[in-house]
Amino acid sequence: MLRFEPFHCCRSRCGIAQTDACTIENTKTQNNAGFDRHGNVYRLPNKVDSQASGLDYLHFSMGSWARNSIVNPEDKETLIAKYHQLKDESLAKVPVIGVGGIAQRADADEALEQGYDLVSVGKGYLVEPTWATKALNNETCAEFADVNQQKELTIPSPLWDIMDYMIVDSAAEAVKHQRIKELQNVKIEFEPGEYTAYGVGHNGKLPVTVTFSEDKILDYCR
Ligand SMILES: Cc1cc2nc3c(=O)[nH]c(=O)nc-3n(C[C@H](O)[C@H](O)[C@H](O)COP(=O)(O)O)c2cc1C
Repeated sequence: MLRFEPFHCCRSRCGIAQTDACTIENTKTQNNAGFDRHGNVYRLPNKVDSQASGLDYLHFSMGSWARNSIVNPEDKETLIAKYHQLKDESLAKVPVIGVGGIAQRADADEALEQGYDLVSVGKGYLVEPTWATKALNNETCAEFADVNQQKELTIPSPLWDIMDYMIVDSAAEAVKHQRIKELQNVKIEFEPGEYTAYGVGHNGKLPVTVTFSEDKILDYCR
């Protein structure tokens, strides 16, 4: 079953905070539980008195629902998989929410399959106000907003400004693609040889050497 929670707001922060408090207590006797001071999981909680702590749910706010270790990049096992191995009976009663990068229904399905009880969608809702309906109908959800959509999406300017990486200028992109297509049809002729150009970087000039044949780039090195 798919269930959606558009924004979990401060409750999820409480989830982390409460977990933090209880896991710190528990870490006195266990050394595989805890969050760092930024709320990042560096060790996973495996034991928590969910009733005493009043913990409603646990929410992994790690940038991506499929996050692996933030300590050891070689360790590819997802945190949710680790969590399920570590959790005790009490923690097993607390629903766990996956968040971060759920953009399409397929992401939600995969997250649920991998062991989350719920998934949470943040940025998806900003650009796709009917995200859940679309996902339930197996429709593709928008992942970007067009530069002209701010009003239509009723997004206030301060939020719009920080969404810059999610905003595309479709008209400008179309012109750019058209130009690239045109350029692909232009016959290329080079004066064969090796050429060095310099870009100016923070630490001085950065050379780029390119070798041309009459119609191809044969090699380049920086
Ligand atoms: C506008 C905005 C407001 C948010 N507010 C909260 C919040 O109040 N509490 C919280 O725990 N997370 C908040 N988040 C973080 C999201 O819940 C979520 O963890 C994050 O956006 C990653 O998920 P996403 O890739 O689906 O956006 C907010 C995110 C956005 C974009």
